[in-house]
Amino acid sequence: MNTKTATPGSLDVTSVKADFPLLQREVHGKSIVYLDSGATSQKPQSVLDAMDRYYSEINANVHRGAYYIAERATAAVESARAALAEFLGAPSSEEIVFTKNATEAINLVAHSWGRTNLTEGDVVLLTMLEHHANIVPWQQLAAERGVEIRWIPVDDEGCLELTNLDDLLNGARLLAVTAASNVTGALPPIRRLTDAAHAVDATVLVDASQWVPHQPSDITAWGADFVAVTGHKMLGPTGIGALWGRQELLSAMPPFLGGGSMIQNVTVDGFTPADVPTRFEAGTQPISEIVGWHASIDYLNQLGMETIAAHEQHLTAYALRTLVDRFGDDLTIHGPPSVENRGGTLSLAYRDIHPHDLSQVLDQHGVCVRAGHHCAKPLMKVLGVSATARASLYLYNDESDVDALADALAAAGEFFKF
Ligand code: ALA
Repeated sequence: MNTKTATPGSLDVTSVKADFPLLQREVHGKSIVYLDSGATSQKPQSVLDAMDRYYSEINANVHRGAYYIAERATAAVESARAALAEFLGAPSSEEIVFTKNATEAINLVAHSWGRTNLTEGDVVLLTMLEHHANIVPWQQLAAERGVEIRWIPVDDEGCLELTNLDDLLNGARLLAVTAASNVTGALPPIRRLTDAAHAVDATVLVDASQWVPHQPSDITAWGADFVAVTGHKMLGPTGIGALWGRQELLSAMPPFLGGGSMIQNVTVDGFTPADVPTRFEAGTQPISEIVGWHASIDYLNQLGMETIAAHEQHLTAYALRTLVDRFGDDLTIHGPPSVENRGGTLSLAYRDIHPHDLSQVLDQHGVCVRAGHHCAKPLMKVLGVSATARASLYLYNDESDVDALADALAAAGEFFKF
């Protein structure tokens, strides 16, 4: 039985918090209130233990040794691949390529698929919601190949403005879109976008970094061609991510990085690449990170992604209500005003207090938020700001954390009164 759900569909957050060693600590004499999970999530003890056990008990390189611990390590990596495929709703674990993070997954597509398939004059359609990770690799390709980049605009609520989608897609070879904005929390309609893109034979890449940790995932239902994910935002360690791609696309792509493990044969005259996914996994993989990621997937599965999503939606609604009630027009919350169309990422502008100053005062109250452009400078420009203070909620946050944020904001208001 799942002991962390107090009643069906509701999380016992006190019990969840107890699983996270870092959430037990104090900073500046105050209990920590961690509201920066959009940047990276905290890790439960089970993830730390799994990584420790890997090193203590079965540390050996994978896909190489024929001895007991090497076979155990190889099995651990392959069982993590299978667990991730199932978690994402991917048709096959052979379509899962481990990468360093989502950024590397997108770069893999840009380098391998992009340089194989795109030539001068081809159109790559991006959105104004994208993180730099889903912008810069395409700009690099555009500079090298003369590819044209177009942008889907955003509306006043920080959601995609899709009125001219068909025009924007005209001639597009690729649509690259986030499933959840790391700034406004907006959740673009991925299935509608993939259908529209496929109608003009464009390939679709979804950056799911900010979606997969928070919502049940069914990438088959999305109908996408590539999906980039990262481990560290979903309770896993840093240094591990993955690309999912449709088998026929991956199989037609050349390797991204060359080296050990990714070959079938090497002679003095050249090499033949291995099959997918090994072809894209050159060099020794971050094995303990893969093992830790598997433990984080198990943790999330145990709680249930439906339950987590419902909890976050409830908490986001509470946060929106609380902040609007307490601060009124003094506080701008960028992004959709309703929880129907957003996740728990709240980008804040409080009076004329600079977000960095704001975050420093919040820090004195133990409240951790990210201040800055959030690696989404084109979006910042549209929002008319150079930076925001961003609070991002996760499964281990509850109403007391939102109240602590509101109290700390009020204290900052007092501090910067004159
Ligand atoms: N992409 C991460 C963020 O939005 C680092 O903070």
